[in-house]
Amino acid sequence: MHIFEHFDSYVAEIDGKVVAGMGLDCGTYACLVDFIIVNSEYRRQGIAKKLLLFAFKYAKKRRQKIIKGLVDVKNNKSVLDIWAKYGFKQDGELRNLYEPNDYYVYIYKRL
Ligand SMILES: CC(C)(COP(=O)(O)OP(=O)(O)OC[C@H]1O[C@@H](n2cnc3c(N)ncnc32)[C@H](O)[C@@H]1OP(=O)(O)O)[C@@H](O)C(=O)NCCC(=O)NCCS
Repeated sequence: MHIFEHFDSYVAEIDGKVVAGMGLDCGTYACLVDFIIVNSEYRRQGIAKKLLLFAFKYAKKRRQKIIKGLVDVKNNKSVLDIWAKYGFKQDGELRNLYEPNDYYVYIYKRL
């Protein structure tokens, strides 16, 4: 697998095919994982894990203290468990932001 910079995001490529993407924006203190998505045919093979480990290394190299994200819990509650595996903690929530009954949770990990 090959991970390379692509505008403001990173994509993972296997045998010349892009199979996953991750938005990663870093400031002076924190990096935000805007999104992470793996092609459905390539899931459960450790690709998201590799992208996240890449993000941790990338952020640490830039002396960032925190890596954070906003999870759409209404549509994907189990994703919170995945983030927890990698040391992310929950820190507040947003409800009814884009539409009634939507539900987002802030997550962060200290680096
Ligand atoms: C969530 C997503 C990115 C995971 O990608 P993936 O490449 O399949 O994940 P990995 O294979 O690297 O698995 C990482 C860990 O999560 C676990 N995991 C992955 N998918 C899971 C699922 N559906 N349910 C429970 N655990 C899961 C794996 O067992 C693994 O744990 P381990 O490190 O203890 O072995 C992928 O399912 C996806 O793109 N979903 C749609 C978009 C999305 O929900 N993005 C996240 C928004 S916050």
